[in-house]
Amino acid sequence: MSDDLRWSQVGLPEEWKDGQGRVVNIGARRIAVFRTGDRFRALKDACPHAGVSLASGYLQDDCIVCPAHAWAFSLDDGHCTMGPSGAQAACYQVRIQDGKVEVGVP
Ligand code: FES
Repeated sequence: MSDDLRWSQVGLPEEWKDGQGRVVNIGARRIAVFRTGDRFRALKDACPHAGVSLASGYLQDDCIVCPAHAWAFSLDDGHCTMGPSGAQAACYQVRIQDGKVEVGVP
């Protein structure tokens, strides 16, 4: 993980149900934070196709499927797994620190 990130607390782990995405705001950024089991990952909450909220999509095979036109993005690095090759959702690092979920932004 990079030390160049600014980390922001966005909630307690138990505030997410397993398999749920939730929008958090860090400054002007809208970020979709997803929980899968004990893992937390985050993508920009705007589909690179037409800007629809990815937090409202559904999880499938460790990807988030956009609710608008079903492009899918890896939760690990935001690359498009269903849709045009090269499409990319911005990805953020997430950690658990002192029992709280934190998202790192550059
Ligand atoms: S807006 Fe997400 S696939 Fe079209």
